[in-house]
Amino acid sequence: MESGGQMKTQVAIIGGGPSGLLLSQLLHGQGIDSVILERRTKEYVLGRIRAGVLEQGLVRLLEEAGCADRLHREGIVHDGTLISYGDAMFRIDFRDLTGTPVIVYGQTEVTRDLYAAREAAGGAIHFNAEDVRIHDADTDRPVLTYRTDGQDQRLEADFIAGCDGFHGVSRQSIPASIRQEYEKVYPFGWLGILSETPPVNHELIYASSPRGFALCSMRNANLSRYYIQCPLTDRPEDWSDDAFWDELRRRIPADQAERLVTGPSIEKSIAPLRSFVTEPMRWGRLFLCGDAAHIVPPTGAKGLNTAASDVHYLHRALTRFYRDGDPSGIEGYSAQALSRVWKAERFSWWFSSLMHRYPDQSPFDQKMQVAEIEFLRANRAAQKAMAENYVGLPY
Ligand code: APR
Ligand code: PHB
Repeated sequence: MESGGQMKTQVAIIGGGPSGLLLSQLLHGQGIDSVILERRTKEYVLGRIRAGVLEQGLVRLLEEAGCADRLHREGIVHDGTLISYGDAMFRIDFRDLTGTPVIVYGQTEVTRDLYAAREAAGGAIHFNAEDVRIHDADTDRPVLTYRTDGQDQRLEADFIAGCDGFHGVSRQSIPASIRQEYEKVYPFGWLGILSETPPVNHELIYASSPRGFALCSMRNANLSRYYIQCPLTDRPEDWSDDAFWDELRRRIPADQAERLVTGPSIEKSIAPLRSFVTEPMRWGRLFLCGDAAHIVPPTGAKGLNTAASDVHYLHRALTRFYRDGDPSGIEGYSAQALSRVWKAERFSWWFSSLMHRYPDQSPFDQKMQVAEIEFLRANRAAQKAMAENYVGLPY
């Protein structure tokens, strides 16, 4: 760091969530220097609980980043998932249909491992970075200004990576005349709890029921994550643990409900469901990655995985630029990332639409959902399409 709050780096990264950390670590592996500016503290970032299903593409990136040891030790390999409607349940066999499993490992743990790797490598991460502003992103010399501890800071860079999530500053820095935003807000949320109980099943259960959707997920052999669809007007404090467990039991097949082990919740929260994409994902030397550019509803756990494919394309593009002087990856970043993003959006939207109750749903609409679930149950081609999307489209 130079005196007077002046710094220079190759890639300035806004946001110390999984996207920013993974990008920084991968760039480091290629000898490319970066600085991360994070608005909050590390403890805050690690306090967030998010989905925990990793595609092989992300696992490969974490291996490349040197952050996959614990994941390989503690992650649980899932060769399939269960889908239920009423008391009927069937399995989508990922291994048989695609040859590929997914790994269940919490996003918080991924983030923790990435922080450990960045710290071990002496990576620059500035926490409590307030009022980050992007200047001259459409020139060859972009600059970030921000404040830490009441001091004005300035960071010059070759490129800026906007990895600052949905509420960040990066997307808003692209002129509105250039930005096109696409959004769908769903008329319900997910009430989730974490409990120190063994999972009801060794695989995830995505449950459609006349009372609404439910999901039985897990973090490890004694830590379960469950969700139930709820009205957006509900608040977590409206739901006692007992009320939650009772409602969950009503939405999953009776034989699973009988086996469900309940206990006190150690976390309880409600998340709204949203699909969102902004185009383009590059403006001059500013690139958007992850939640800064797109949001998916959690059905199918594509959030982190889609962030990972953005990071993959961007770190490849930057590597080619620095190593070979080839700007084509940078110029093509937005189109390449968006092509995969839209497919993950489609899958998450489809899986959400298939499994949830909608307030305005007619009896005909409900019959269509049941017919589609039964088609999926019986048809290998439909299962293969589902499985290919769930384990992750190639990148
Ligand atoms: N300045 C600096 N940092 C910021 C700013 C800002 N103006 N705004 C937000 N941030 C930080 C946030 O505090 C957060 O730590 O950027 C980080 C963004 O992290 P995430 O929201 O986790 O987004 P991302 O890293 O893209 O992760 C992808 O996968 O499962 C999904 O939504 C889930 O977080 C997940 C995502
Ligand atoms: C989770 O474990 O939190 C989870 C798993 C799968 C999903 C969504 C969330 O589709």
